[in-house]
Amino acid sequence: MPTVRDVRAKAGEEPITMLTAYDAPTAAIVDEAGVDIILVGDSLGNTSMGYETTLPVTVDDMARHTGAVARATEDALVVADMPFLSVGVDEAASLENAGRMLQEEDAHAVKLECGPHTVELTEKMVQLGIPVMAHLGLTPQHVNQYGGYPRQGTDQEAAERILELAEAHEEAGAFSLVLEHVPSNLAGEVTEAIDIPTIGIGAGPDCDGQVLVVDDAVGLSEWTPSFSKQFGNVRAEMESAIGAYVSAVESGEFPAEKHGHEESTLDDLY
Ligand code: KIV
Repeated sequence: MPTVRDVRAKAGEEPITMLTAYDAPTAAIVDEAGVDIILVGDSLGNTSMGYETTLPVTVDDMARHTGAVARATEDALVVADMPFLSVGVDEAASLENAGRMLQEEDAHAVKLECGPHTVELTEKMVQLGIPVMAHLGLTPQHVNQYGGYPRQGTDQEAAERILELAEAHEEAGAFSLVLEHVPSNLAGEVTEAIDIPTIGIGAGPDCDGQVLVVDDAVGLSEWTPSFSKQFGNVRAEMESAIGAYVSAVESGEFPAEKHGHEESTLDDLY
């Protein structure tokens, strides 16, 4: 079984790879490809549930998808993202919601979108045996405060706040830190300043690892952010396969005789 220790140990060797997955078949492919960490991101609200933001995603949604991913994963560390308002409002509820991902859905760790309010909570979770991946920089659950998804940490004060929060979460016991959409030099400085591995998305090459949303990486998304990269064109493959299916059914080419069977005992049905 992979552990958060493996992830910590890997930092300093080759970069850590992390991708999201939201369902069993995708998780199996990602796992077999050798990705170190599978994040069941609340980005599933955008990628799979048709929402414009991640805010409507619930603990039940995350639990169901985390279970599906965990059942299909053999080698990667499975991290469940904690959705909007599931942590931070009330300590007992936060611990129950996060604990459920490990206890009922077989995740190995949870990810929290962080701020000053998650420092003590991280400490408590870690004490109870819930490994925490912290997330700083652009935290999409704050979309209504940002008014969109702008770059973060772009002035001295904001950069210092991110650095301080990174150190505070390391001190609280987080085992790794996602840095999203921050300047590369800030990500480099944070990576230098803390011992736990940093995993960047839109944060340049100086992190200990990289993460992307799987739909963006394989070219399934209709739109991808500028900091992402498409490593394939799954959308075009699907469009072509589905178009071929529609044509084959409409023309009568599918199903052919070999796709069905005749049952001789039914010959005198009427
Ligand atoms: O929800 C998600 O997919 C994430 C990653 C982009 C880090 O938080």
